[in-house]
Amino acid sequence: MANIILFFLSFALFAPLSCSTFHTLSKGSSLSSEKPEDVLTSPNDVFSAGFYSVGENAFCFAIWFSNSRTIVWMANRDQPVNGKRSKLSLLKNGNLILTDAGRFTIWTTNTFSLSLVQLSLYNTGNLVLSNMEGVILWQSFDFPTDTLLPEQQLTKNTKLVSSRSQTNYSSGFYQFFFDNDNILRLIF
Ligand SMILES: *[C@@H]1O[C@H](CO)[C@@H](O)[C@H](O)[C@H]1NC(C)=O
Repeated sequence: MANIILFFLSFALFAPLSCSTFHTLSKGSSLSSEKPEDVLTSPNDVFSAGFYSVGENAFCFAIWFSNSRTIVWMANRDQPVNGKRSKLSLLKNGNLILTDAGRFTIWTTNTFSLSLVQLSLYNTGNLVLSNMEGVILWQSFDFPTDTLLPEQQLTKNTKLVSSRSQTNYSSGFYQFFFDNDNILRLIF
């Protein structure tokens, strides 16, 4: 009997640790382009964030619908990183950076915080860097790629840029934004 209890106890203790997906990234930790299991998922499992293959040995840090793998956001669409030794890291100073093959910083949120911060993927598909008081330092919803999700706003500071093609996620030729005269424009 004691053995059985011990068995279930150890299962309860270790099952969450062996689970490959997680919801938040904390200070000092990173996601690696070399580990396909290094993916953040929203608590409702609808969205995933991680390194997405866009070509031979070329990866973009992206958010996608978990079941269809349809991309909704990309950090570095015009500068894919190497599949080896590339990382998304939440530094101790509160900055989130994407490094290519361990050397170059390709993309950064330019954030700074001495208090605890964490990166979370919300159920809405918003990737949010916030501190323990809930203050948002950076969020992907403020920097759309070519897609708006429900609850995501298009403002005077944001614009949508189409992809090159259905298979190439680089910036394409169509832009959708509020012009200076407050008119919503779709331009080529
Ligand atoms: C996507 O298109 C851009 C611009 O033409 C090009 O530089 C890039 O190599 C293409 N990427 C892929 C994966 O084909």
